[in-house]
Amino acid sequence: MTAIKNASPGAHYVVHLPEPDDFAFWRERARQLIQCDVPPDRVNWVEPGGTGDLFAQAEPSPEESGLPRPANDVGPVRVAKRFMSLARGAALHSDTERFSLLYRMLWRLQSNPRAMEDKADPDVRRIEDLDKSVRRDSHKMHAFVRFRLVEGDGDEHYVAWFEPDHHIVRANAGFFMRRFANMNWTILTPRGCLHWDGTTMRESGPAQRSDAPQGDPIEELWKSYYSSIFNPARLKVGAMLAEMPKKYWKNMPEAELIPDLIAGAQAREAGMVAAGEREERKRPESLAAIAEDISACRDCPIAECGTRAVMGEGTPGAPLMIVGEQPGDQEDQQGRPFVGPAGQLFDEYLVQAGIDRSAAYVTNAVKHFKFSWRGKRRLHQSPAAKEVDTCRWWLESERAIVKPRVVLALGASAARGLLGKTVSIARARGEAIALDDGSELWVTAHPSYLLRLDGAAREEQAALFARDLATVKARLRELEGAP
Ligand code: URA
Repeated sequence: MTAIKNASPGAHYVVHLPEPDDFAFWRERARQLIQCDVPPDRVNWVEPGGTGDLFAQAEPSPEESGLPRPANDVGPVRVAKRFMSLARGAALHSDTERFSLLYRMLWRLQSNPRAMEDKADPDVRRIEDLDKSVRRDSHKMHAFVRFRLVEGDGDEHYVAWFEPDHHIVRANAGFFMRRFANMNWTILTPRGCLHWDGTTMRESGPAQRSDAPQGDPIEELWKSYYSSIFNPARLKVGAMLAEMPKKYWKNMPEAELIPDLIAGAQAREAGMVAAGEREERKRPESLAAIAEDISACRDCPIAECGTRAVMGEGTPGAPLMIVGEQPGDQEDQQGRPFVGPAGQLFDEYLVQAGIDRSAAYVTNAVKHFKFSWRGKRRLHQSPAAKEVDTCRWWLESERAIVKPRVVLALGASAARGLLGKTVSIARARGEAIALDDGSELWVTAHPSYLLRLDGAAREEQAALFARDLATVKARLRELEGAP
């Protein structure tokens, strides 16, 4: 960069951020300072109500606070993509040194554009940690904000109290707006409040816990919902408390039930699948790591349903990957894909087509069993497109490790999981679809579809299904170079 040194030599600058979460403001000022070649030890970042870094120099004179202006022909600021995505999160942390840290890193990136790639670098690690804590705090906010009904003048207004650790309130406004679009609601927090009336989002200053109402009839709804999703077979108290820290219990009507649920469940069952969240979006590097991560995944509501996440079965390098929709009741109980009625039927067709299941990698687009109770029976429910899309990350991770040459999607959810869009089975079957990694995708019906048919319709669909499998087998042989 041809830095034009517009800054007075040795001058110290103070930047007052208008809001503690104003990343855009920080970015603008940081760019300006970098372009003027102002080193990190000469900038003091001050957020509202703060005095900046503990170790920063004393408040400079007002003249020094006026920031230098870069010349027009100054070169661009170098910003690694990874830095920007982490910095956005880290900037919301409550650590008072975060803006200095980010500026220092940005400064270093100008002379070493690959500095973010050094995992052992203390600045990189600190930025990653800040971002991670902020994401965790947002996750808690999504999970633990509980609205209580307040009757107004014929209006229903819902009010929630939440205590975030970091400056995440504004950043999460969109999430609550989308999720509770048709309600009038207010989220009160000591870091500022959000108010939504169905059309406009407003903000206001910090609130106190006493501003929030306590208790109302919808608490009963939460309580019954919570006890119905609570699965004693999965209870591990430590993990449960880690995921739902006691700190939040006081805001949660269902927390009243927790001691009873724990006590009752412990008497019946020994363990609980570890609850947790996906801490980082780094791709797992082995199938074992995916298996562990999907057990802790709570990115969609299905994860709260079945007994366990069902991992794919097979080994890296398998030439064929078979993708179903989601585990069923049997798969959920046994922890293996395609072992129930649809799996047994599928096995018969595989044998008929000459496809060796044990040489393939068999998995599902969605890793948990989605169901509804009918008496004592758990009835399969199809995953929503959004749920398939959420789980796609795991499927892609499996594919990146297994690296199959041919992928067979059984049904529309599987096809969506692989393609990221909905396709019609009737139109997609019989033709290879190129996937991003050079492998080819073949789409066919789901075997449970055959189970639901009978008579001529079943015969017709069974023939199409058998033909699709035979095509895949032929393709595998071709790729193997068989004569
Ligand atoms: N159906 C699926 O799609 N996958 C299974 O594992 C079982 C039934």
